[in-house]
Amino acid sequence: VSDFIYPLFLVDGKGIEVPIASMPGISRYSEDLMLRQIEECVALGINSFVIFPAVEDALKDKEASYAMRSDNFYLEAIRQIKARFPESVVMSDVAMDPYSSDGHDGLVIDGKIVNDETLPILAKMSVAQAQAGVDIIGPSDMMDGRIGVIREALDGAGFTDVSIMSYTAKYASAFYGPFRDALNSAPKSGDKKTYQMNPANRREALLEAQLDFEEGADMMMVKPALCYLDIIHVLKEQFPIPITAYNVSGECAMVHAAAQNGWLNYDLAVYEMLLSIRRAGADGILTYFAKDFAQMLRK
Ligand code: PBG
Repeated sequence: VSDFIYPLFLVDGKGIEVPIASMPGISRYSEDLMLRQIEECVALGINSFVIFPAVEDALKDKEASYAMRSDNFYLEAIRQIKARFPESVVMSDVAMDPYSSDGHDGLVIDGKIVNDETLPILAKMSVAQAQAGVDIIGPSDMMDGRIGVIREALDGAGFTDVSIMSYTAKYASAFYGPFRDALNSAPKSGDKKTYQMNPANRREALLEAQLDFEEGADMMMVKPALCYLDIIHVLKEQFPIPITAYNVSGECAMVHAAAQNGWLNYDLAVYEMLLSIRRAGADGILTYFAKDFAQMLRK
């Protein structure tokens, strides 16, 4: 259980809990109720969290400028979590899509996602999050060169102890659907195939990993997990840093859907899935099953 990183969805406001239909047990929470969730998780032995913001459309623009405002509800919640639970590990999400009116992880100019122009925005976003107190920066954007740029920006701002878990091998996957619904962050046009990886390609994962490693990633993630166990395995064999896996929303929704129909035993399916991710070589697992699994072990 201590190897889990539990994803949580944050909304602005008070007393808000909006369940996500495709992932029973997972909701968007306002800060107050998220703190309560974290308290429950900590009692179950889950100590690491990755927080994603669901931002209302009126606050989105092309430059994702809301991400950098120090009064934004995401940074405020991070401050509160670290104040209430100083021993917890809080990981952030770095990408433009939750704040972008285009719904893309990078800056869109003339219908194109422009890599290099996106990098300073990601660096600023990372520094703002470090100032708010995050322990681990989680760039999920897949722009080339961002790990080095973020590392330099963090060090330059005095955050040498804030680490980076790179979404190193993030594939253009069909399994992100429920997440995009949860955050209302689907691309307004086009898809993410110019920056996320081709599921057919294994060697590109090694290249991405080599670059991230050289640029200063402290941990490297493979995402999704289940269709990519071979990628987890090969990165674990070849790189001397922790490898994590993101057991994504669609992988979670599949199990719930089948279990609700009586076609799978939920507990057994979850156990086997998580075990396989671990067996493939993941040191840490980002999973929506974290809480259910921790409770399962106590039954
Ligand atoms: C985007 C991001 C995505 C996820 C995490 N960060 C979706 C996407 O690339 O569109 C997906 C996580 C999940 O499906 O659980 N920055």
